[in-house]
Amino acid sequence: MRVDVLSAVPALLKSPFEHSIMGRAQARGLLEVHVHDLRDWSDDSRHRQIDDYAYGGGAGMVLQIGPVYRAIEALRSERKYDEVVYLSPDGQLLDQALANRMSLKGNLILLCGHYKGVDERIRTELVTMEISIGDYVLSGGELAAAVLVDALGRLIPGVLNDETSALSDSFQDGLVAPPVYTRPAEFMGWGIPDVLLSGDHPKIEAWRLEQARKRTAERRPELLNQSDEVPRAKPGPQGDATAPST
Ligand code: ADE
Repeated sequence: MRVDVLSAVPALLKSPFEHSIMGRAQARGLLEVHVHDLRDWSDDSRHRQIDDYAYGGGAGMVLQIGPVYRAIEALRSERKYDEVVYLSPDGQLLDQALANRMSLKGNLILLCGHYKGVDERIRTELVTMEISIGDYVLSGGELAAAVLVDALGRLIPGVLNDETSALSDSFQDGLVAPPVYTRPAEFMGWGIPDVLLSGDHPKIEAWRLEQARKRTAERRPELLNQSDEVPRAKPGPQGDATAPST
């Protein structure tokens, strides 16, 4: 997958893709992330300005269409893109089902907004989809773009060491993930469930499924009613379509 991010503040995106799983995905050639400075396509080569006052007045500057149009054209002259995504709080809400669908795309352009907003013609004429990472307003789309790339990148086969581990993520089967423990088995008198030390794997899987269901019912009951809408990665241990695949 190749992702080209267009930003007015590219420095904000320098570090998120360099480390850990995203860094490894790029080192392995499974993911390419290119961050571009929209100012490189400014109308005004001297001041590299890319925003202007809103027609009709009002506070706040608006991202101009010219730099965005030229940036997209320059990228499109090199390769085909599946989507031009605008990160915006009024876009389609990102969830695991959307991340799964987006991870199947080849090349994406992500446009990060800033200022008061972007010229509406960018949204109507250039952008093909709009995504929000939650019902709150960030100062710009950069952190949202980083969240989106991380959520998609880890789903690319081969990115995670254990390829099945993305399948057992919370939400992947319409349930949140069950609790996990590691050594030591006892710390300050706090133990771990005996079943995990039993070596009985069918019993452990059944316990994990029960815990995932219990946790989902307690913390995110609305997911239980939506679970039919989540694309299944694979059936769970008992062939139960809502089971977490571990
Ligand atoms: N830009 C500002 N806020 C945002 C949000 N919640 N999601 C995506 N992009 C944004």
